[in-house]
Amino acid sequence: MRSRDDTVKLQIIAGSTRPGRLALPVARWAAEAAAKQGDFEVELVDLVDYGLPLLDEPGHPRAGRYAHEHTRRWSAKIKEADAFVFVTPEYNYGPSASLLNAVNYLHNEWMYAPVGFVSYGGIAGGLRSVQVMKQIVTTVRMMPIPEAVAVPFVMQHMKDGEFTPPPPVAGSLAPMLSELARWADALHPLRTAPPPPPPPLPGPPSANTPPPGTP
Ligand SMILES: Cc1cc2nc3c(=O)[nH]c(=O)nc-3n(C[C@H](O)[C@H](O)[C@H](O)COP(=O)(O)O)c2cc1C
Repeated sequence: MRSRDDTVKLQIIAGSTRPGRLALPVARWAAEAAAKQGDFEVELVDLVDYGLPLLDEPGHPRAGRYAHEHTRRWSAKIKEADAFVFVTPEYNYGPSASLLNAVNYLHNEWMYAPVGFVSYGGIAGGLRSVQVMKQIVTTVRMMPIPEAVAVPFVMQHMKDGEFTPPPPVAGSLAPMLSELARWADALHPLRTAPPPPPPPLPGPPSANTPPPGTP
């Protein structure tokens, strides 16, 4: 995470891990365009690189006591950012299991970060997936912004593995990024403050007991 006057660190998360996924070329386009805009230090984060299995942590993520190295790596990466773009496909009118799983792994690491969405799919441009994700991200206290990029009929804009958006789609990225930068600035004091003390966690009493060996 940056200090107050540093450039905003933006992570663009490619939200599908399927072989042959379009998430990666779409995320590459968004990352290159965001880097050109100049408001951010941009990093493309590929979920495949983190190899997260289906959530296998024994404790609630709010406690931040992680049993597995893959979770610690994922946590350290997400903590670095000030703002996020989730590049999300639409599977059965909802988000991909891999993106949802990656969100569920953590809690405090997402808190008070703004998030914008680049979605894609068929006629609806992935928007139904975004509507579901917006509800979920507010539970980890992220701020989903209304400005968004939606790509209908995404396959029509793919050639040789590269995504080239039509002008109206390309033109919707800059306003979303400008808003993300404003929100990242406004939320900076909250995001850099220590997290509030957690309420008792839902689940059995063991959810609130540190695992053996935890300092
Ligand atoms: C299981 C599954 C469900 C899908 N459901 C939808 C859907 O509800 N809406 C839609 O527009 N596209 C749907 N699609 C098509 C995806 O938009 C398309 O396959 C896209 O490339 C998926 O993203 P990815 O390539 O990054 O994994 C679905 C694809 C799969 C594999």
